Amino acid sequence: MQTVKLHDKTFELFIDENAIKSAIADLSLRINTAYEGKNPLFLGILNGSFLFAADLFRQINGSAEISFLKMASYQGTSTTGKINELIGLNEDISNRHIIVIEDIVDTGITLEKIIADLQKRQPASIAIATLLFKPAAYQKNIKVNYVGIEVANDFLVGYGLDYDGLGRNLKEIYRLKA
Ligand code: IMP
Ligand code: MG
Repeated sequence: MQTVKLHDKTFELFIDENAIKSAIADLSLRINTAYEGKNPLFLGILNGSFLFAADLFRQINGSAEISFLKMASYQGTSTTGKINELIGLNEDISNRHIIVIEDIVDTGITLEKIIADLQKRQPASIAIATLLFKPAAYQKNIKVNYVGIEVANDFLVGYGLDYDGLGRNLKEIYRLKA
């Protein structure tokens, strides 16, 4: 499929299945080397990362655990404004080696909130693994340790990423057509 229509917009094929597989193979090699014997705890950020998390985790050797979190965003009082809360974290992460799994890091605003929240819980270490990274959009100083594919500042869908709910089930990644 070279183009796909979701709601009112057309997207064109950008990253095929093989390129995704090969990026994940590279990432898992690096992570397996760095975390050997450390029983890392992977924390996938829902919803977007679920396919990437599954495919990456499948390639991890030895003891490793995985759990999923969600950044819930809701309107607080007029003084508190918009509240962002990390939900779903039930395990004790103190002294654990954490690898946060993201689908895409764009501005880094979401990531910064997640890391700040996790840091309070005294993990042994935190690293970030993202399938996609938009360096031109990134505004933060937090190091993104494991990047699958660097992309330009275009809107992408597929392989977990959505446009208003649609497109997550596409096997490839598509780019909004100009
Ligand atoms: P950030 O806070 O700007 O880094 O954006 C993070 C979140 O926005 C990601 O985890 C995605 O859920 C969503 N997002 C950012 N860029 C895209 C895109 O190109 N397509 C679909 N979702 C995106
Ligand atoms: Mg996301």
